[in-house]
Amino acid sequence: MKQVDFSAMVDSGRGLVDRAIFSDPRIYELELERIFARSWLFLAHESQVREPGDYFNTYMGADPILVCRQRDGSLKALLNSCRHRGMKVCRSDFGNARSFMCTYHGWTYSNSGQLTGVPFEKLGYDDRFRREEWGLVEVPRVEVYKGLIFANWDREAPTLREYLGDFAYYMDIMLDRVDGGTEVIGGVQKWRMRGNWKLAAEQFAGDMYHAQTSHLSAAIAEGYREAIGDYHDGIEIDAGGGHGVGAFTGRPIVFGHPAVGAYYEATAAEMVRRIGSDRAVGTQWVHAGMFPNLAWLWDFPTLRIWHPRGPDSIEVWAWCVVERKMPPAVKEIIRLNCQRHFGPSGTWEQDDSENWSYCAGGNGGYIARKYPLNYQMGREPAREYSEFPGRIGSVYSEQNQRALYARWAEMMNAQSWKEISVPGRAKSDHMGNAAAAVAP
Ligand code: FES
Ligand SMILES: [Fe+2]
Repeated sequence: MKQVDFSAMVDSGRGLVDRAIFSDPRIYELELERIFARSWLFLAHESQVREPGDYFNTYMGADPILVCRQRDGSLKALLNSCRHRGMKVCRSDFGNARSFMCTYHGWTYSNSGQLTGVPFEKLGYDDRFRREEWGLVEVPRVEVYKGLIFANWDREAPTLREYLGDFAYYMDIMLDRVDGGTEVIGGVQKWRMRGNWKLAAEQFAGDMYHAQTSHLSAAIAEGYREAIGDYHDGIEIDAGGGHGVGAFTGRPIVFGHPAVGAYYEATAAEMVRRIGSDRAVGTQWVHAGMFPNLAWLWDFPTLRIWHPRGPDSIEVWAWCVVERKMPPAVKEIIRLNCQRHFGPSGTWEQDDSENWSYCAGGNGGYIARKYPLNYQMGREPAREYSEFPGRIGSVYSEQNQRALYARWAEMMNAQSWKEISVPGRAKSDHMGNAAAAVAP
């Protein structure tokens, strides 16, 4: 594609977005290179690969990836594609294995990626073949943040912690609330839908506004009307780096089920001790999006990835995250709640999916593409929130979406990480971690 200025397509100053970014296949191809092959992408929760030999099959962008727990406890991420003809060497969603045999011609790889077996090697290749040159391609960077495993193809990328910047402060509300950390339960729910991955990402990064309309009928049917219909005190937080968070403020936290409420009450003091009262008291954390394609909701609580599958298709993978020490009965209530609302046939999930699907239909036409979309909403919040890092906007604001698209354009325009800003550098973050260990 000829050089395009992507900042002109997403004018975050005026709040205008060119619809072509949701439909042009050339832009999608460049996203795979400049966004997905450079960003820290979520692979799996550590609880999915606890033991040596455990593996989990996922994707980074459009590339199939095997996450493997090694004998020494470390983790490797390998391109799940045979070096002979490209067949997937492992087709199970997850499991435990010391090696993977490609079922096409039988090349066999260890779970650290070395090619260990080639049928009829001497008959086919004489002595020319160098097995050591034909191992599985390894993702060079793998890092873990409080149970979440991430990887990055780009050797020049900042560390995961630098990439997260202030956003880690908000991740901790989910990941570090109590002793023992989190785990995922109930497997991974996966489904395909029509839509562009960025519409899902921008909604989870910054859209408290849609709930009043999109989810109102489900909320009324389930007795949640008050929770979303008539309460307007809240904030949207642009956490930098395209990452965004939203919350209701100034009201007691609402729990759907008394047993869940009782658990959170019983652990409230522990939460204050671990992460301080600013994040623990009087704020109901609602949604978060980590650039580019990881998102979660605290209330349900679902963790999800928007795997891109072309400009107008998304493969959603959704997990239910719980605290390890929750009583089993509470975990089960949470799992069912998560599934009923945000599984593929969940009441709230269907509301969102239908919107993204019709947006794809509405944005792709020749005439429609001449008219930009409006991302201009936002005003100052009702009071200052200096306790929270990041830029704070009113609850009905599209500042996080504008920030996400500004980040998207920055990465799409850049030739390398040398031209991309790093949220966690050049200052100490809100948790007091100095931005040391920063490469020039
Ligand atoms: S494609 Fe894997 S052995 Fe031929
Ligand atoms: Fe929604």
